[in-house]
Amino acid sequence: MTREARLQWWQEARFGMFIHWGVYAIPARGEWVMYQEHIPHEEYARFAKEFNPSKFDPDAWVRLAREAGMRYMVLTTRHHDGFSLFDSQVSDFTAPKTAAKRDLVRAYVEACHRGGMRVGFYYSLLDWRYGAYFRGPQKDPEGWANLVEYVHAQVRELCTNYGKIDILWYDGGWPYTAEDWRSAELNAMVRSLQPDILINNRSQLPEDFDTPEQHIHASPPGRPWEACMTLNNSWGYNAADDAWKPPKQVITHLVQCASGGGNLLLNVGPKADGTIPPESERILRQVGEWLGRNGGAIYGTERCPISTSTGLCTLKGHTLYVHVLRWPGKELVVPRLMSKVLSVSLLAEGKPIKFEQKGDRLFLRDLPGRAPDPLDTVIVVEFAEEPRFLDYFAEGWEPGPAVGPSEEG
Ligand code: GLC
Repeated sequence: MTREARLQWWQEARFGMFIHWGVYAIPARGEWVMYQEHIPHEEYARFAKEFNPSKFDPDAWVRLAREAGMRYMVLTTRHHDGFSLFDSQVSDFTAPKTAAKRDLVRAYVEACHRGGMRVGFYYSLLDWRYGAYFRGPQKDPEGWANLVEYVHAQVRELCTNYGKIDILWYDGGWPYTAEDWRSAELNAMVRSLQPDILINNRSQLPEDFDTPEQHIHASPPGRPWEACMTLNNSWGYNAADDAWKPPKQVITHLVQCASGGGNLLLNVGPKADGTIPPESERILRQVGEWLGRNGGAIYGTERCPISTSTGLCTLKGHTLYVHVLRWPGKELVVPRLMSKVLSVSLLAEGKPIKFEQKGDRLFLRDLPGRAPDPLDTVIVVEFAEEPRFLDYFAEGWEPGPAVGPSEEG
């Protein structure tokens, strides 16, 4: 399969669930707690003795992702602390060999397959339990070689033991190079085991897609990208973090991603018992309700070069979706349209909207005084062809005859 063909489902999907889960959910101060508090491994390992997620129900995770309108999931199979949620021949610090006594990754994969959800594995190259990670390949070539062997062996396990995997989401390559991690060899192995898999850019090789973190930044056209973002300010469960983003902010992020041709991977941090915090559930359900009404303006859309004074736009074939994030009242203008408009309507209600085309400007008239959907009202503009957009720099901005004091001197 070509790269383009492999990427097709993912680019249509636009929205996925990131899950940061591990023994760090017990201290509940985020997934970096071991590093930030400089906890020796032996002391940290005690969390694994307590980590027995009694309410872990991966089918419920999949249901929530579906309700939220998400089309794929990415779970931290092993984060920087070195605790593997999966069974591993090369580590004893794993869920099956500690209190949980089972392979949590297997349960997750099976639930995804049952629920028709695409499966992603997050995997951290670095492991804080290895002193060689801090010393590096120059100072400790032998220790480094051991670390890299272990990483390659675990990635092989993940790509061998769980059936078809859709995404491999590396992290933690810094501050070392692709040569240090032998990433080219690693990814060749991954592709031989999982020919259709998508690989992110964090093995220090570009591979299939870019991963801007906690901000939205479109890659150049032709280069796939996915912004990953948290729902509060934490990835792993953090009991003290109540800075939850309102649904409108999440929807705005999703529209920003789609209008730039990218995806949004939105994070949840389940508690140690396996349940997703109720605040996260509430936000995701509201986003899902909006997507239920307006999904057509997100899924399968392409990058759109124009925006309006009221928000952003997405594009699909002959159809332009105008996302009105700030409702202007009775009239709205869509600029730079060089193609003939056939019809304009409200996406959710299907109600037609009065319009007039004057030059490149499309005037929408007699709109309701208040936003029909305060989260984001989507207006659908249908064209007779794939719309062409005016490019001010290539085609010029003709301001018309100048008026005012500057001309009069
Ligand atoms: C950072 C953090 C990590 C988190 C990741 C998500 O790299 O180290 O904790 O998993 O971002 O993108």
